[in-house]
Amino acid sequence: MNRIKTINIKLKTNINAKVIIGTDILDSLGARLKKQLTSKNIVLITNYTVEKLYSQKIIENLRFHNFNVNIIVLKDSEESKNIYEVKEIIDRLLAFKIERKDTIIALGGGVIGDLAGFVAAIYLRGINLIHIPTTLLAQVDSSIGGKTGVNHAKGKNLIGAFYQPILTYLDTNVLQTLEKKQVLCGLAEIVKYGVIASEEYLAYLEQNINVINRYDFAHDQEVWRYLIEKAAKFKADIIMKDERESNLREILNFGHTIGHGIEAAFNYQTYLHGQAVAIGMLMAADIALSMELFSYADFSRLKNLLTALNFDLMIKKINIHKILDHIYLDKKIREKKLRFVLPTKIGSVETKTGIKDDLILDKLQKYLSTNVY
Ligand SMILES: NC(=O)c1ccc[n+]([C@@H]2O[C@H](COP(=O)([O-])OP(=O)(O)OC[C@H]3O[C@@H](n4cnc5c(N)ncnc54)[C@H](O)[C@@H]3O)[C@@H](O)[C@H]2O)c1
Ligand SMILES: [Zn+2]
Repeated sequence: MNRIKTINIKLKTNINAKVIIGTDILDSLGARLKKQLTSKNIVLITNYTVEKLYSQKIIENLRFHNFNVNIIVLKDSEESKNIYEVKEIIDRLLAFKIERKDTIIALGGGVIGDLAGFVAAIYLRGINLIHIPTTLLAQVDSSIGGKTGVNHAKGKNLIGAFYQPILTYLDTNVLQTLEKKQVLCGLAEIVKYGVIASEEYLAYLEQNINVINRYDFAHDQEVWRYLIEKAAKFKADIIMKDERESNLREILNFGHTIGHGIEAAFNYQTYLHGQAVAIGMLMAADIALSMELFSYADFSRLKNLLTALNFDLMIKKINIHKILDHIYLDKKIREKKLRFVLPTKIGSVETKTGIKDDLILDKLQKYLSTNVY
């Protein structure tokens, strides 16, 4: 079965970014793009891992439909997300004589999406961008919403632009090759949508735990499709109301204030983003519990779900002040006040300022593992 579903993201900036969800979309890419694009020139930007797995099929299909395809293959690493790589890519685009009406396809996880998206935003003041996200995290989060960018030595994602793709193709078939820890990364964002937007969605996760934990995207297509489609829709709805993160979009940061602090305190070496966000969500929920904003029953529901999904909910041994410093550092760089997105019940959150350091430290201590790793 290959049902195709389209989500239309209508934005104030005149671009209507379509998100298309289905299986085997990649086999029909050329035929689909023929109807969408005015130019035949496409540059596929990907990394070595994804190139080996999926690029040949895509390129053959596009060439069959008379597209001229050039490919840029990058190193498989967050380290590729830097301004020097942006310049290298632009040099290649100029050598390929890519013009304004031509198209960049970002094929890969969030790293490729952010980097290729940023290049598309600034090359000739913006050329067509299509996302084909290949990680669960990229399908449910980073490929939707138009945030693009690269890292700076002083912090992650400090250079960037809001730039919407004209199309995003979510093909659940490509997820079958993901490593388990990468699936877990996407699952953290999926749980997040349940807490910030929909009790029904969280209940669906609870009811399908055993299926989800098989990580079998081909066999359990219906469940994964539902989860991904809904997640994409939640994000699209939030983006449509607040494209440039003035207010509502902030709720997407649930679990991320502390999560980012943990990732940074461990120099981005120890924690994958989703794993740190899972701890961050639980701690934010615990802070809300202490402030009597959130019930113990809802807190237990979240904790049980994260545990059932196999997240490690203890922070590895560290000086907890280091995490707190990173939480503040991140905000200082971005000239923002420390704001916490806290749950009030499953499916609903509020943003709070003025959370006391003592309360944050208290919770960091509570979730600090005493084991030496
Ligand atoms: N723009 C946004 O709104 C936004 C939101 C969240 C995260 N991000 C960014 O996204 C990045 C993280 O993205 P990610 O988690 O996708 O990581 P990633 O892009 O590094 O991909 C994770 C790993 O999976 C591999 N991979 C990708 N697709 C595969 C497949 N189908 N089969 C097998 N292996 C595959 C990659 O090669 C990589 O090794 C970070 O840089 C983060 O800042 C951006
Ligand atoms: Zn995230």
